[in-house]
Amino acid sequence: MQIHQTIAALRVARAKAGRVALVPTMGNLHEGHIALMTQARAHADQVIATIFVNRLQFHPGEDFEKYPRTFADDCAKLEAAGVEHLFAPDEAEMYPQPQGYHVEPPPDQAGVLDGEFRPGHFRGVATVVMKLFQIAQADVALFGKKDYQQLMVIRNMVREFNLPLEIVPGETVRAADGLALSSRNGYLSVDERAEAPRLYRVLTELAAAVRQGARNYAELEARAMNTLSSKGWAPDYVALRKMHDLQSPSAHDSGLVVLAAARLGSTRLIDNLEV
Ligand code: PAJ
Repeated sequence: MQIHQTIAALRVARAKAGRVALVPTMGNLHEGHIALMTQARAHADQVIATIFVNRLQFHPGEDFEKYPRTFADDCAKLEAAGVEHLFAPDEAEMYPQPQGYHVEPPPDQAGVLDGEFRPGHFRGVATVVMKLFQIAQADVALFGKKDYQQLMVIRNMVREFNLPLEIVPGETVRAADGLALSSRNGYLSVDERAEAPRLYRVLTELAAAVRQGARNYAELEARAMNTLSSKGWAPDYVALRKMHDLQSPSAHDSGLVVLAAARLGSTRLIDNLEV
């Protein structure tokens, strides 16, 4: 695997790479990331992974400083997955001066759910992803459904800016007990790790109720939040939404997804499940 730290070096490699699939990450790679790399292989001649912990998408007080940085391990995993190129710029390469121009996703998409609790987060994501797209000039880019709202924001950005690449979603990879793999799972204590799969169980139960015909969405959401609270979680939201635009459904809408974010101790976990 070739490691490129500069935009100039990546562009030289990209020019020779044929059809390219891009998989942006913030590193601390796990099986969820690697599944995207494997899937990417089927869409292109060469795969470019990126590792960049993007300060713009963390707001003050979040975990930017302590976000796990495990570069050597990550390289070994990418190598084993057969990835051809890793773009791993430092902050001065990506932001030589403070970023003045930003991609501002509309509030109905980026101000709800996670955007309500992480103001500016999706603006930071959209801005860095736009930069990565311009830098890598990929034909296709892969993003996980684990970050469902992020996937929607990026898809809409690509559509509205007519960016010439295809966005391919990857299914959420879970531990055997159901917990969605996440770099932030490493923050959990042993006891918290044992409790963490409840988030997925709560979503599974809520989705099952809807599949069986329940339409009392507000009540189902409140019940799920109460279950989490009673087990020591601090939920931000449990919300049933329409898959394509993440707006609230009415009783006759189909194609729903249930999304949740909750804090366990000091760790904030998110998950979702298509109904
Ligand atoms: P990061 O959290 O490192 O995730 C990188 C990619 O891996 C994202 O597309 C994410 O949805 C996907 N992913 C994470 N956990 C997954 C899982 N358990 N199963 C499947 N896919 C999973 O998301 C980001 O980084 C950043 O916001 C980024 C897009 C790189 C912009 O900075």
